[in-house]
Amino acid sequence: MTGIYVHGYDPRENLRLQDQASTLVELLHSDTTYPEGSNVLEAGCGVGAQTVTLAFNSPRALITSIDLSEASIDAATKAVQAAAIDNVTLRQADIFHLPFPAESFDHVFLCFVLEHLSQPVEALRALKHVLKPGGTITVIEGDHGSAYFYPDSDYARRAVRCQVELQAKAGGNALIGRALYPLLRNAGFSEVHVSPRMVYVDSSKPDLVEGFTRKTFTAMIEGIRKSSLASGIMSEADFDKGIADLYRTTETDGIFCYTFFKARAVNDYHAEQGTPRDAPQRARL
Ligand SMILES: C[S@@+](CC[C@H](N)C(=O)[O-])C[C@H]1O[C@@H](n2cnc3c(N)ncnc32)[C@H](O)[C@@H]1O
Repeated sequence: MTGIYVHGYDPRENLRLQDQASTLVELLHSDTTYPEGSNVLEAGCGVGAQTVTLAFNSPRALITSIDLSEASIDAATKAVQAAAIDNVTLRQADIFHLPFPAESFDHVFLCFVLEHLSQPVEALRALKHVLKPGGTITVIEGDHGSAYFYPDSDYARRAVRCQVELQAKAGGNALIGRALYPLLRNAGFSEVHVSPRMVYVDSSKPDLVEGFTRKTFTAMIEGIRKSSLASGIMSEADFDKGIADLYRTTETDGIFCYTFFKARAVNDYHAEQGTPRDAPQRARL
């Protein structure tokens, strides 16, 4: 069911996930807060990079964070303890075999998980099953097709494309951000609202140059160097030139742009009977 996780679980990747989360907190999380006493499932919490923010923003919600990887759950437990957070329970679990009764949660949250799955609609359906009627799901994903930069570089675009191809070979989809609306509708959710969130970086924003362009995006592409070369998609010289050109965008005259997509949808009571609340009205004949 699950695609191979293309980024792997090594310490460098864990650090990149933490850098990504801390740089993007305001952009991605500022409008997500859950009410006191609500039960929230965070699916695919990884090393807890988003968990800490979720818990800070909703200190009175009861958050259950799961991940397939036992090692990631251990790291997330440490992150949560280090932040002195007491409203998060962590456990190892598979989205496709959730160990919770139907309709256990008021809300579901997942970030950068669907892109790694070969069956994202089935994953959303499995999550819908444990969501109460009227509950919400929030999904955040990137889309590597949205990356553009100055100076432009064919080598850099090809290196990004390597990531897209490798992820596709592993059963995932690095272009999934643009597909959140149809995926959620196909999984039976209603009131789907997708909000694109663009990160624009120039040298007047040194924190983003460092935290996003260098340590999040370019670090991610650099992280697939070995597998890209092994796959023969690009020659070593061309790939390294692509990476160098991505770093070139962090110089004084450089620009980097990327768009994330954040979707929120409802597990509608009526959708169960095949009539979602926001279904288009049928014309009277
Ligand atoms: C890119 S990481 C994102 C982690 C975290 N949400 C974040 O944004 O930092 C994707 C995570 O999804 C997890 N994952 C993949 N398939 C899963 C499944 N079937 N059930 C639970 N977790 C899964 C992986 O183990 C990995 O930790």
